[in-house]
Amino acid sequence: MTWLLTGGAGYIGAHIVRAFQQAGMGVVVLDDLSTGIRENVAADVPFVDASVADSAAVATALREHSVTGVLHLAAKKAVGESVAKPLYYWDENVGGMRSLLQTCLDTGVDRVLFSSSAAVYGTPPTEFVNEETPTVPMSPYGETKLAGEWMLRDLAAAGPLRWAALRYFNVAGTRAPELADRGVANLVPMALQALSEGRNPQVFGDDYDTRDGSCVRDYIHVVDLAEAHVAAARRLDERDTGEVYNVGRGEGVTVKEVLEKVREVTGIDFRYDVVGRRPGDPAAYFADPTKISKDLGWSARYDLDDMVRSAWEAWQAR
Ligand code: WQD
Repeated sequence: MTWLLTGGAGYIGAHIVRAFQQAGMGVVVLDDLSTGIRENVAADVPFVDASVADSAAVATALREHSVTGVLHLAAKKAVGESVAKPLYYWDENVGGMRSLLQTCLDTGVDRVLFSSSAAVYGTPPTEFVNEETPTVPMSPYGETKLAGEWMLRDLAAAGPLRWAALRYFNVAGTRAPELADRGVANLVPMALQALSEGRNPQVFGDDYDTRDGSCVRDYIHVVDLAEAHVAAARRLDERDTGEVYNVGRGEGVTVKEVLEKVREVTGIDFRYDVVGRRPGDPAAYFADPTKISKDLGWSARYDLDDMVRSAWEAWQAR
């Protein structure tokens, strides 16, 4: 079985490629390098420099490498940017996926594993989020991820298609310094960036109704997340399915607890600045990972210490 991984040159994609290789699964990467990095893809992995919307290039890649399934990660993922440029997000994420799915239909590829997001839940009515929790996205980004799930569901109703969508919670850490997240858009990299510039990390609000006033999230190690894709792809290779799965640890951690861990791991005795709330931030939510553990036998192996430690080692190696 060979999987085409769109967006395989990105931070998460590069980790998934390694996990697929270790699991003995064939993998081909397609990435337009708009945000991905060519060096993230090992020399022994076939690489196609193209956009998912380039139907001819995608079809050639699918045929030439006898691809049996598509793992679709290539997308824009900045929530704030999606609010400012909604049509760009609909074009890139929904239009791109629509084109990719058409090419799959045209070439007879009938297995699709989709990179979705906890952003589909918006501000959940309960902190503990399972797959039955209503999906009310609060940003164009979240909407485009939900639309992607809907396209898969609709296609599966209309004809043969095996699919699954993984809803990622807050991804952090790295398996190796060279694969680290180069973006500085999330809490852990933002805190490390602040420290490396001699600034105090910031807490976006500590007047939430949580145990220490700061927001609660579910942080998941990127290596665990990659393994979840291996488990889901194997399931699609084995049998028909069409499911969405939360991928988290099932443990809520506050922003201040993350920063305490950063203090412990870095050995830097910093203070943090509490600033105003960031608009649109839900107070608290974390995954109920029961379904993925029951159906796919996956559960997280790494904890917050592993995430922050690996991110810090990578930061120092920059
Ligand atoms: C985490 C917490 C911030 C930076 C995002 C997407 C979501 C999903 C996961 C992909 C929040 C606080 C942050 C800082 C802070 N993405 N924070 N100081 O927003 O929970 O989730 O990634 O699908 O859709 O929205 O992640 O890392 O930005 O923030 O206090 O300097 O840390 O307010 O509570 P978020 P994040």
